[in-house]
Amino acid sequence: MGSVKITFKVDGVETTIDGEMNKTILDSAIENDIDAPYSCRGGACATCIGKLKSGTVELEQNYILTDSEIEEGLIITCQAFPTSENIYVDADDI
Ligand code: FES
Repeated sequence: MGSVKITFKVDGVETTIDGEMNKTILDSAIENDIDAPYSCRGGACATCIGKLKSGTVELEQNYILTDSEIEEGLIITCQAFPTSENIYVDADDI
């Protein structure tokens, strides 16, 4: 599968990693030792919420975010699969 550049900002620190299109943004972040917030990994708790500042994703499951929150760019990273080659997620701007 293709790779994707993911920049993740958490606690004021930006890190860019090579992720994979067939993995969630959270899984790619964890595999690259980014201290990304999460808890349930099932789309239910919103601990992994972040703002998508560039790129596009597809949410596999979403029990939490409203349509207007999604329009604002909020995503839950444990359910977000990249659908573009450059992604920027800001976990601080929520
Ligand atoms: S970790 Fe619970 S919704 Fe993502």
